[in-house]
Amino acid sequence: MNYAALCKSAPTPFWVYDASIIRNRCAELVRAFADHNVKLYYAVKANDHPAIVALAASAGIGACLVSQGEFERAQAGGVQPGAMLMNGVGKSRDEIAFVLANGIGQLNAESLAELETIAAAAEELNTRARIGVRINPEITANTHDHTTVARRTDKFGLLIEDLPAVRAIVAKHPALDWRGFSCHIGSQIHGVAELAASYRSMAELFRAERKTQPQFDRLDLGGGFGVSYSGERYARPDEYPKLIAEVTGDLQKDGVTIQLEPGRFIVAEAGALVTSVLRVKDSGGAPASDGSPSAGTRFVIVDAAMNNLIRPTLYDAYHPIALARESAAHYVPCTIAGPVCESADVFARQRELPEDVAAGDILVIGFAGAYGATMSSMYNARDRLAEVLVDGKKATLIRRVMTAKELDEITLASDVITRSADD
Ligand code: LLP
Repeated sequence: MNYAALCKSAPTPFWVYDASIIRNRCAELVRAFADHNVKLYYAVKANDHPAIVALAASAGIGACLVSQGEFERAQAGGVQPGAMLMNGVGKSRDEIAFVLANGIGQLNAESLAELETIAAAAEELNTRARIGVRINPEITANTHDHTTVARRTDKFGLLIEDLPAVRAIVAKHPALDWRGFSCHIGSQIHGVAELAASYRSMAELFRAERKTQPQFDRLDLGGGFGVSYSGERYARPDEYPKLIAEVTGDLQKDGVTIQLEPGRFIVAEAGALVTSVLRVKDSGGAPASDGSPSAGTRFVIVDAAMNNLIRPTLYDAYHPIALARESAAHYVPCTIAGPVCESADVFARQRELPEDVAAGDILVIGFAGAYGATMSSMYNARDRLAEVLVDGKKATLIRRVMTAKELDEITLASDVITRSADD
């Protein structure tokens, strides 16, 4: 990608996505599961821009959602409501009613109270809600603490011991059309083996429950396929079908659809955060090329910050960072930091960059297509960044920048919402 050319038309910082990489990742997944009874749902939380969702949709991939906003974006991306499913521990009554009224394919319920809410909303709409019951299989995924979601103490799903209560609620409400189970144990999972335990326990649970729930026709095994941010080995999509067939082959033959919810795998590699160097400052002397901590620290201050890409701050996540031009200079360790007033506003420490990096240079923070723009904020009254989609030779501005001032302008300060706020 010619970043310098892009920067001539788009001021940094901005997001850029390569459509061909997204298409390739989708094709890879679709191909891997072509001969299986498997349906893919793109977890749009990874990148919910309708133009990005549209790329997955045109590969025949549905959408996995967690809010009404995501429903609307997925629909704008061309996904039919019937090809959408929705997770989330905190779906509001209004959201549930909205997605049901709009024909969502499946709601995965995560609590007994939510089952009651779904039933009430469906009864009011005079419809039946197709539901999956999300199970917490109590399996600790080998990934970052924040993205490990199926320990007994995590908020997601229902425990297996809750099943008698689930059965009672479903029996009471004909509006609940219970079609199977779902689970998701975590994100950025390295290898197939790490998913095997949850797949196995879910398949076993499904088989047992299906004896008394013959309508069961779907088992949702969640997302979590990892990507290689720093070159380490991760499972490729063609490694998953073997495990899934081994664990669920009998069910698939018996008409049960296995559902998967990949997010990161589809978009991470396709995206970059393009940023300019504002200044370089050596603190405590020049840095040592051997990285010796007793030498000074070279801060490369860029115009992007943690409010744009929070992953390094929140998860200590590694993102590749490269200078967009050629340089013959030798490499020195740098701390690449943004302008936000927090010492955690750092994209990388001790990261090697050419010694001649200077103000005005462009740096490309790679593998930022997943959980980048979607997790950004306007902290420090900073912009919500523009997004650019490159497709072949064509670059399109798919979202323009939003400034803090624009946000203030759409909020009418004179709108009184109550006259009794101190009651
Ligand atoms: N299904 C469910 C129910 C999920 O909660 C998630 C992600 C996915 C599917 C998609 O998982 P993926 O295939 O993308 O791993 N912000 C974090 C990741 C949070 C993932 C949340 N749930 C990060 O930047 O690493």
